[in-house]
Amino acid sequence: MIQIVYMFLVLHGVYSANILYIAPLGSPSHYLWNKVLALELVATGHNVTMLTHDYEKKDVLTNYTVITIEDFYEHTSKHFYIEDVILKGNTIQNILDLHDYAKLTCDYDFQSAGFQKLLNYPQDFKFDLIIFDITGPICLYGFISRFHNPPVIAITAFTLSPHLSYLFTNPLYTSYMPHFATTYSNKMTFLERTLNFIYTYFDIVLAMYISFPYQHQTAIVAFNAPLPDFVETHKNFSLFLINTDFAMDYPTPLLPNIIPVGGLQIQPLKPLSQDLENVFNHAEHGVIFFSLGTNINSKIFTDEDINTFLNVFSKLQEVVVWKFNDSLQNVPKNVFISKWLPQNDILGHPKTKLFITHCGRLSTQEAIYHAVPMVGIPYFIDQNENMARLINKGVAVYLNNKHFTFGNIHGAITEVLRNPKYKYNIKKMSEKFKNYINSPLDRAVFWVEHVLAYGAPDYLNAPSRDMKFYKINNVDVFLFLLLCLLLLCYIFYCVLQISKIFFKQPKIKTN
Ligand SMILES: *[C@@H]1O[C@H](CO)[C@@H](O)[C@H](O)[C@H]1NC(C)=O
Ligand SMILES: *[C@@H]1O[C@H](CO)[C@@H](O)[C@H](O)[C@H]1NC(C)=O
Ligand SMILES: *[C@@H]1O[C@H](CO)[C@@H](O)[C@H](O)[C@H]1NC(C)=O
Repeated sequence: MIQIVYMFLVLHGVYSANILYIAPLGSPSHYLWNKVLALELVATGHNVTMLTHDYEKKDVLTNYTVITIEDFYEHTSKHFYIEDVILKGNTIQNILDLHDYAKLTCDYDFQSAGFQKLLNYPQDFKFDLIIFDITGPICLYGFISRFHNPPVIAITAFTLSPHLSYLFTNPLYTSYMPHFATTYSNKMTFLERTLNFIYTYFDIVLAMYISFPYQHQTAIVAFNAPLPDFVETHKNFSLFLINTDFAMDYPTPLLPNIIPVGGLQIQPLKPLSQDLENVFNHAEHGVIFFSLGTNINSKIFTDEDINTFLNVFSKLQEVVVWKFNDSLQNVPKNVFISKWLPQNDILGHPKTKLFITHCGRLSTQEAIYHAVPMVGIPYFIDQNENMARLINKGVAVYLNNKHFTFGNIHGAITEVLRNPKYKYNIKKMSEKFKNYINSPLDRAVFWVEHVLAYGAPDYLNAPSRDMKFYKINNVDVFLFLLLCLLLLCYIFYCVLQISKIFFKQPKIKTN
């Protein structure tokens, strides 16, 4: 009965739920992605409290309260060097670095005032739902029981990474699902499949047996409560919303409770600021947009690199709009530099012809959506795998970040600008991406409200979530059948031996 009333209220837009949104992955772009959904939920009439590492201007909206885990980026910039991660650069190291980052985040968060603020909410304070970004650290799972186990929706602005796939017992075929920190496509050689298997299960074992137990132990101390096992906690989760879309990701099986909402961050275009508008107005031959996203600072370039880029740009007829963290001397007339630029609005501008990008997931989604072909300079984590996929689809050209020569940069840019196949391919991709019956953001809001109305949708749960790995994969059945086969062979062998003794053929004389 209560549920029917809830449903009635939701359908008529009166029911206002109190939602706790925890986005603990320290990465500004991931916060921005989550914020889009949070604000949409607020616009739908809900009250959202966001716990994250990013700051928000006071009163960005009524019913949207941001609790910031303060000074996190200052702290990590002293203890976690992205430049180092990039230099070491191999797949195993990237996997280790990600788990390290989770550990560092948890250790920091538990000492923060932001954490205490939410912990000190009144004991009986009630949230109707928790949305939890589970991409990275999960030590804040303690808040689930702290707020009396409301339904939880897991979410990620990332792809379905192997350990999350494992936790949600989604089918995981390492034969055609490349680990995100590799350069492999979904068609792998024998050696690649072997390595991909190793990387994938290395990642899973690290999460299950080292990272999660550590986070669980520190959480028990910080929450001062006997928290349930974190791996078990996932079985309680209602749904898992992931940032993938088959128009741009490889086709893979997904369980019905894992719902793709890829590209939900892409908003309707807003008009450009006056100075940008001027830049675009003067760009007769179009605009090249150059940005390495929010995590990679332009300090990554040496002075020589910068000069080479500027030299190449000065030879082009297009205007280059470059997101660069510092000021620059001797900038050619056709180059516009700024610390912050509205990426979505620039990519959506009809004059934008090329995007020079680090191939982060969010950036590539936005480029595909707006049909802007790319020159990719991947650095780490999933960027190489995204690059491989873009090359595969014929919508981008690779530029090696260790060889920024005039020829390489100029060659990559002119190839994409002058060869029409890149624009053609990405237009096709964009059409597929946009051709949905409901937008990814509507889909995400729909499922959140579905859970608010009906509680956890158990009808979407495969029984695998309560089964052990060996049972799901029938390891015991294989072993049993193998044993039967061996036994059968043995019996057959014995029978043969016995028959040799008893039924010895008398020798037939032939002469
Ligand atoms: C909305 O969220 C804020 C911040 O958590 C909280 O103080 C307030 O009580 C909530 N409002 C309602 C109606 O639940
Ligand atoms: C904020 O939430 C309250 C209930 O929690 C609701 O009555 C009010 O209309 C909301 N305000 C806005 C601007 O959405
Ligand atoms: C699952 O949820 C129930 C209540 O809904 C709670 O009692 C239980 O502790 C939760 N289990 C885990 C492992 O979090």
